[in-house]
Amino acid sequence: MNAARRGSRLKLPAIVASASILLAGFSQADPFPLWAFPASNMPISSGQSGGAAPQRLGLPGTNRTFSREALRDRYAAPDWFPDRHPPAPVVVLTGREGAVAACGYCHLPDGLGRPENASLSGLPADYIRRQVAAFRAGTRTSAASDYVPSVLMAQVAANATDEEVAAAANYFAAIPARAHVHVVETNRITGSEAKGFLLREIAGVGEPLGDRIVEGPRDFERFERRDPRLFYVAYVPFGSVRRGAKLARTGGAGLTVACNTCHAEGLRGGAGATGPPLAGRSPSYIFRQLYGFSTGARGGGASLPMRAVVARLTQNDMIALAAYAGSLKP
Ligand code: HEC
Ligand code: HEC
Repeated sequence: MNAARRGSRLKLPAIVASASILLAGFSQADPFPLWAFPASNMPISSGQSGGAAPQRLGLPGTNRTFSREALRDRYAAPDWFPDRHPPAPVVVLTGREGAVAACGYCHLPDGLGRPENASLSGLPADYIRRQVAAFRAGTRTSAASDYVPSVLMAQVAANATDEEVAAAANYFAAIPARAHVHVVETNRITGSEAKGFLLREIAGVGEPLGDRIVEGPRDFERFERRDPRLFYVAYVPFGSVRRGAKLARTGGAGLTVACNTCHAEGLRGGAGATGPPLAGRSPSYIFRQLYGFSTGARGGGASLPMRAVVARLTQNDMIALAAYAGSLKP
């Protein structure tokens, strides 16, 4: 990467107010990675049409049902499989009406997470607490300041009490991490669409994947119903996993620092690791974090080791590292 390209990226944080302005102004070298912060493009809930009983929606493997409206209530996480996770604290399942959206609504009751937020299961409890504190302090933000899922996380962090955060942190830390993404290398996809804060593959005439990660659910309706058993596919550029593995293990001859040093063997984190586990987590989430460290959107003292790690990486390097981490077993 040459100095001019690096320079243009380092200027980003100051003008990141609107990602669409960036698209217009910075479409030449190293453009803002808009693809990583997809829009919703979904109709706002219209409620139930006059009088008819709301339709109850189900999922295979459970007798539970929820109305479409209930599935959109951020103060009631749809708990499809209550037997598949330990008893959850109130903050995880219902939050606090009007102030703290239920952690389990976005991160799912078992903490598996979705590509537009983050997996929490298996993260160390003190890491979870520190991150919520960083959102609250404003030292951790999103590189796209208008990315709605991150804006909502910041609101949760601002309003949750230390007791609520501790209860959630202890709960999620005790659940073993499980991967629910298949990383697939390709140079072409059939088509793509931003929907529900995801960039997913759709049918079409074909298009180059380019320097992007296109990560979506196998079944969009099950995604809408917040099915925790749903799997995702993350399309990554051909050769990324191998290139990411090499960078992660060796640091790429001084380009960065070997990730294993701090994230442990297999990027599994755990005792003795100073960094959190990364293995098997959403590649688009990992990319957003690496990019956020590089712009300073994810800042503060705790981010300093990572800011050094990403200082000289291109977006393409970050995609490779995210692809590799996502392909590992937790
Ligand atoms: C409205 C959706 C939403 C709710 C509700 C929510 N989060 Fe989040 N959370 C997010 C998003 C989105 C991110 C990723 C933000 C980013 O990095 O820009 C996130 C990230 C996090 C992270 C960082 C994980 C990591 O690996 O660094 C932690 C910890 C976290 N949330 C904890 C919580 C807790 C605890 C609660 C409940 C008190 C909660 N969240 C409720 C959307 C949500
Ligand atoms: C010198 C130690 C160190 C090295 C080397 C290191 N990391 Fe980290 N990493 C950390 C720490 C510490 C954090 C937590 C930062 C925080 O609290 O904000 C972290 C956080 C992260 C996160 C955010 C995870 C999350 O849950 O949000 C990602 C992604 C990441 N590192 C990727 C990498 C990759 C990829 C490499 C190798 C290229 C790497 N790290 C090398 C220490 C390190």
